[in-house]
Amino acid sequence: MNIDVVTIFPEMFNCVFSYGVISRAIKTGKINFNVHNLRDYAYDKHKIVDDKPYGGGCGMVLKPEPICRAIKKIKSKKKVYVVYMSPQGKILTQSKVFELYNKKSLIILCGRYEGVDERVMQYVDEEVSIGDYVLTGGEIPAMVLIDSVCRYVEGVVKEKGSLEKESFLNKFLDYPQYTRPYKYLGKSVPKILVSGNHKGIELYRKKESIRNTFKKRPDLLEKVCLTEEESKILSEIIMEEKNEFRSFNVRSKCNKKNK
Ligand code: ADE
Repeated sequence: MNIDVVTIFPEMFNCVFSYGVISRAIKTGKINFNVHNLRDYAYDKHKIVDDKPYGGGCGMVLKPEPICRAIKKIKSKKKVYVVYMSPQGKILTQSKVFELYNKKSLIILCGRYEGVDERVMQYVDEEVSIGDYVLTGGEIPAMVLIDSVCRYVEGVVKEKGSLEKESFLNKFLDYPQYTRPYKYLGKSVPKILVSGNHKGIELYRKKESIRNTFKKRPDLLEKVCLTEEESKILSEIIMEEKNEFRSFNVRSKCNKKNK
């Protein structure tokens, strides 16, 4: 995977990608990661990369020439897909992450201030946003994109199956996980997980995945097509949750009476 970033704050990236599995993948050459300082492409004495907006208004706009020079130079060496991080872009979802991973070579342009001169868009293949909120610049969104894309690079996420089993590419959120100690804060790990019954564990995890989705992100269930088995499990969960809610109400009424 080739990733080139164009930014006025290159040090931000050195800091974040010097840790963990992505740092290892960069060191071993699985990811070819380069950060370009936009100021290196500003040819005036003061290396100016921004200017006031035509028509007035507050803030500054990133000038087009340094950005276009940077992109042109990186593009001259390889075929790349240019992404501009912007709150106006398409929302980054897991399927968008996978789509971008499949491009294999990305240039990620980070905006700052009031954005970039519109003429730069001729060099941009896609605008991507990490959510409907505005940050002070595209660097943190670019890091989010890079982190999520790089997880697909072979060998970055070590354990076989962990990518296939995770949330969002599947229909459901993850199931809850437990590790030692067996008993903590008065709660024990569900018995099935220490039973050695692999089929039972698989079924339990599927059910808890669906329960998690039902309780935390019911909107996701509206978008998916459930198998017969999944619909049955969901009906069971709805009944269980209703009963839980009823007994909670009874309990809280009892508590009130006892007071
Ligand atoms: N730059 C500022 N806010 C952003 C966002 N939400 N997504 C991508 N880039 C941004």
